[in-house]
Amino acid sequence: MEENRKAEKKRSSFSGRLGYVLAVAGSAVGLGNIWRFPYLAAKYGGGIFLLVYLVLVVTFGYALIVSETALGRMTRRSPIGAFAKFGKGLPFRFGGWINAAVPLLIVPYYCVIGGWVCKYLFEYLRGGTMELAQDAYFSTFLGSAGGVEGWFLLFAALTIGIILLGVEKGVERMSKIMMPLLVVLAVFVAIYSVTRPGALEGVKYLLIPNFSNFSLMTVVAAMGQMFYSLSIAMGVLYTYGSYLPKDVDIEKSTGQVELFDTAIAVLAGLMVIPAVFAFSGGDAQALQAGPSLMFITLPKVFASMGFGRFAGVAFFLLVLFAALTSSISLAETGVSTFQDQLGWSRKKCTALVAAILLGLGTLCALGYNALDFLQVLGMDMLDFFDFLTNSVMMPIGALATCFLITRAVGLNAIAQEMELSSAFRRKRMYGVFMKYFAPICLLIILVSSLLNVFGVISM
Ligand code: PHE
Repeated sequence: MEENRKAEKKRSSFSGRLGYVLAVAGSAVGLGNIWRFPYLAAKYGGGIFLLVYLVLVVTFGYALIVSETALGRMTRRSPIGAFAKFGKGLPFRFGGWINAAVPLLIVPYYCVIGGWVCKYLFEYLRGGTMELAQDAYFSTFLGSAGGVEGWFLLFAALTIGIILLGVEKGVERMSKIMMPLLVVLAVFVAIYSVTRPGALEGVKYLLIPNFSNFSLMTVVAAMGQMFYSLSIAMGVLYTYGSYLPKDVDIEKSTGQVELFDTAIAVLAGLMVIPAVFAFSGGDAQALQAGPSLMFITLPKVFASMGFGRFAGVAFFLLVLFAALTSSISLAETGVSTFQDQLGWSRKKCTALVAAILLGLGTLCALGYNALDFLQVLGMDMLDFFDFLTNSVMMPIGALATCFLITRAVGLNAIAQEMELSSAFRRKRMYGVFMKYFAPICLLIILVSSLLNVFGVISM
């Protein structure tokens, strides 16, 4: 007993709920909120996308965050260990590995986008506010292999360098100052953006659901975004949960993380989407710009401001921090998985992660230029990895978690774990959700997104 308590003390490194919420929010808030959310919302129907997203966050997202955190805290292990604790068979091994593999496939292309952020920061520092606002600037940049690869390497080196030097904590501490600053600046830019002539149409497009824009793809995209943004089905929450003291209320902290993460995504949507309407008349093509949307639209906003260069520098610097804390937590998850499973030294595992990162990241960076003939299922490499992880692997990982809980761990055991700290307020909803609703929806989403890319159905 005494031993147990000691071990418990040793592993729990969060001081309490606030420390935990800040750490999870640091991992959750990143390019997903600022870069990915606005372009998906623009592409998949605006208000209807937002509505579907919100419903998913408070149902699916809630149940899955609670599950992963509770499993992590119960087993005190990261995903592979947590799955292995309840069974030795193939499904358990597969469930653990799929959750652990996702971050390794996300971090390469995450660093490519991080590189774009570095490039824009550099150009604003140099005073290129007007050039950056030109329509063709971004596509010209994407077309230069050396440019995209070089900036990717810089961001990747920052991520790996910080892990090797062991200064993640310092970066996280810095980000506690940078993150609030980012929110303040984003509020300013959003206000500026929504008050441009013609922007009101964009605000309406983002906030008012228009059911004629609904398609199954809206749900698939919103679901993928929810996993991505909240860091679900990537092993991250298992790992954080394993460091959580037993007296922290999991439900309350989950609610706070979700609120914070969603608020930042909506704020980013308000910076970007109204600007599409103000500067490009909201034409359908501009709304479909995809991954490049933020990089095309925001420079136009900054160029029209009196202090645009300053705003550009501040914005991309703050985004760089948000992106770094997330990419570090992605890479770190990979490193600790290899350490646990292969028993190698930390240095060796970091080198392995770096090799994967450089190899796959280069494929994504060059997929827009030197290797643009390389297409998988009609997608560029970056889009392909994004699709593979968010629309295929994460639903499978989440299905594995549902399976683990309902078949092996038992809903009662999860409830007991939750009740160690407080009453499990949404226990009934949680049970119904994990048993029926979540597995069925996940299967439908998975099958239909696969049929869609293989051209069997069109969504
Ligand atoms: N949630 C992060 C984002 O929105 C991405 C991420 C996922 C980071 C998983 C860490 C772990 O950008």
